[in-house]
Amino acid sequence: MHAVDLDPPWDPDAWRRAARLALRAGVPPEALTWNGDTQGGLGFGSDLAALPVVRESPRVSAEFLSLANAVICHRDPQRHGLLYRLLWRIAGGEQALLERATDADVHRARELEKSVRRDNHKMKAFVRFREVPGEANAFVSWFEPQHYIVDRVAPFFARRFAGMRWAILTPYRSAHWDGQVLRLGPGGTRADAPSDDAQEEMWRTYYANIFNPARLNPRMMRQEMPQKYWKLLPEAQLLPDLIRDAGQRVRDMAERMPEAPRRRIPMPPPSSPEPMDDSLAALRAAASQCRRCPLWQPATQTVFGEGPEHARVMIVGEQPGDEEDLSGRPFVGPAGKLFTRAMGALGLDRSTFYITNAVKHFRFEQRGKFRLHRNPELSHVQACRTWLESELASVRPDIVVCLGATAAQAVFGKGFRLMEQRGVWHTLPDGTRAFATVHPSWVLRQKGDAQGVGYANFLEDLRLLQGSETGQGGAADSPA
Ligand code: URA
Repeated sequence: MHAVDLDPPWDPDAWRRAARLALRAGVPPEALTWNGDTQGGLGFGSDLAALPVVRESPRVSAEFLSLANAVICHRDPQRHGLLYRLLWRIAGGEQALLERATDADVHRARELEKSVRRDNHKMKAFVRFREVPGEANAFVSWFEPQHYIVDRVAPFFARRFAGMRWAILTPYRSAHWDGQVLRLGPGGTRADAPSDDAQEEMWRTYYANIFNPARLNPRMMRQEMPQKYWKLLPEAQLLPDLIRDAGQRVRDMAERMPEAPRRRIPMPPPSSPEPMDDSLAALRAAASQCRRCPLWQPATQTVFGEGPEHARVMIVGEQPGDEEDLSGRPFVGPAGKLFTRAMGALGLDRSTFYITNAVKHFRFEQRGKFRLHRNPELSHVQACRTWLESELASVRPDIVVCLGATAAQAVFGKGFRLMEQRGVWHTLPDGTRAFATVHPSWVLRQKGDAQGVGYANFLEDLRLLQGSETGQGGAADSPA
């Protein structure tokens, strides 16, 4: 009988080294004990290295390695032995073993893998950083993963939040990023992390605003955001009240809808008047009478861009939504709030940007009392191009940021592929630097974990803007 102690027990390399030694020595699974979760024992491989080699190391598929890397993070104390059994059988000639989903070992390994992957997603979605009081740009988060996943997921956070200094503390392990190096160390306690911060209040306000009682599905919500994570999420404190009041709010909304303030533009002239000059004020006045496409008719008003006359950064969205149409201002609804929150998280001030849209009228479909957003068509974007070009010529920003595919195609051309080309600098024909990312409403439409991941990626793209307000940043990342 041989024994292997792995320290730490989630280290895939240590497991692989020991498994290879055992396999080369021809040690069958039943003659090997894996003391995976008792730490500080014999060290990897124990006496295995001294055994005579009776066979060559097998070649294993990438699929097996990927499975093993996940399974080793599970808390099941049997996992090391299970993996070795699979390896032994594959090396013994069952090359297609992993394809046999009904095999008991394969089935169990897949279950463990699934559970670990799910835990990874939860960590990516539910880690909430809190600012360390008195320290600039330093954040700590407390998280309680189900499995040993910190080493596996920490590099994700290092990539996503490369510009911050942060630590993630868990009961068994911690990860620390100082802006350059990722370090992994012992676990901590919840009391080691700051308990609350000002941003959480903002996040709660935001969450309460975007919470749509009409779309509430408590069962789905509990499935996607299991209650055990609620204590880690600032917004979760609001949920019991939001859920309790949802029914009444839906009834109130239904009654209020017909009373929404609508201000219709009086007499339609045939097209749009020419602006008196290229000042933003003149452009705005001329655009308010625009009839270049039919969208003006059902819309309440033109929603022109707003912001400093010579802002360094211009943000281009798709088209106004319901709230923008009613208020006449871009990005004031749920998508705008998410965008503002992202700016805050990156230490950027939205009010220094000029914010506009590729299309200046709200396109919607009336469904009973509701006005449902419809994507603008190419003809609407083309009709509105004159206004976007005039805004670009008047503001002359150094940087243009496109939110979503419609804006990106309006700025870069029809061939632009958002998901392939997002988050990297491009240069427009006049030398202006520009990049695109997803639209904040796309982030809001993602369900469950995907929303947290979508938001993290959105933030990561927008990080290109850091320093751009003062002219110090952004350039470092730009292409030569
Ligand atoms: N979506 C946009 O693209 N623009 C807005 O102004 C609001 C929502």
